[in-house]
Amino acid sequence: MENMLKDKVALVTGASRGIGKAIAIALAHQGAKVAINYSSSDDAAIEVCEIIRKNGGTAEIFKAKVNVEEEVDSMFAAIEEKLGSVEILVNNAGITKDNLLMRMKTEEWDNVIDVNLKGAFLCTRRVLKGMMKARYGKIINISSVVGFSGNAGQFNYSATKAGIIGMTKSAALELGSRGIRVNAVAPGFIETDMTAVLTDEVKAAYMEKIPLKALGKVEDIANAVVYLASPLSDYMTGQTLHLNGGLYL
Ligand SMILES: NC(=O)c1ccc[n+]([C@@H]2O[C@H](COP(=O)([O-])OP(=O)(O)OC[C@H]3O[C@@H](n4cnc5c(N)ncnc54)[C@H](OP(=O)(O)O)[C@@H]3O)[C@@H](O)[C@H]2O)c1
Repeated sequence: MENMLKDKVALVTGASRGIGKAIAIALAHQGAKVAINYSSSDDAAIEVCEIIRKNGGTAEIFKAKVNVEEEVDSMFAAIEEKLGSVEILVNNAGITKDNLLMRMKTEEWDNVIDVNLKGAFLCTRRVLKGMMKARYGKIINISSVVGFSGNAGQFNYSATKAGIIGMTKSAALELGSRGIRVNAVAPGFIETDMTAVLTDEVKAAYMEKIPLKALGKVEDIANAVVYLASPLSDYMTGQTLHLNGGLYL
């Protein structure tokens, strides 16, 4: 199916690389006008934009740190001017600062909470202005399998990814009567820059535990986000789609 999102304005945070990049391309393939947010990788963001335009889609880049309120506000103002009011928000931007709990620096805790949770909070609060008026909207939050299973060495990160689920459910309860659907996707082990830093040993240990015996691809996550952004999932809110090859059941 193509063009399920014709002319809908979609903002994907952290769309210069990895999962966010694949989501931006997949939403554009369905006809959405895509705002590509990122924090520092100018060239990578421009490349995503060019890929979409070459395929006949519409995209613009917006550099802003999602955890900085003023930057989020100016980003939304710029998107509204260039593309229109955001109807689909994908809270994808996320970072890791892994460490064993006893050694975890306060700064490592603060940074991860700031980007992964405060970033999603600031973007969600701001997007509601337009969605409330339109009485329709789709918000898709990217959680993680470790928000459900926990993970040694990821005390901070797994807390944010469990937190995303609480935020998803609370927002779904609060916004349902306004036609705004809020759902989450919880990826398992997906091949991106974020997981490229892991040693072969760690990757092999994950493979052992995955019943489908394969690591996930960014497109696996993008396909699920397209479904949640589309009218196909209109009777769904407050839910999480788990895409982890069976790693966590
Ligand atoms: N990869 C996995 O296996 C996996 C599994 C479960 C969940 N996830 C989640 O999926 C999401 C994407 O992960 P990924 O693996 O694709 O990550 P990635 O390859 O490291 O890319 C992270 C993206 O987030 C952006 N970003 C970082 N800090 C930001 C900030 N303060 N403001 C705006 N953008 C910011 C980066 O922009 P720059 O390029 O400008 O730095 C980049 O586009 C994250 O929420 C992650 O937690 C990933």
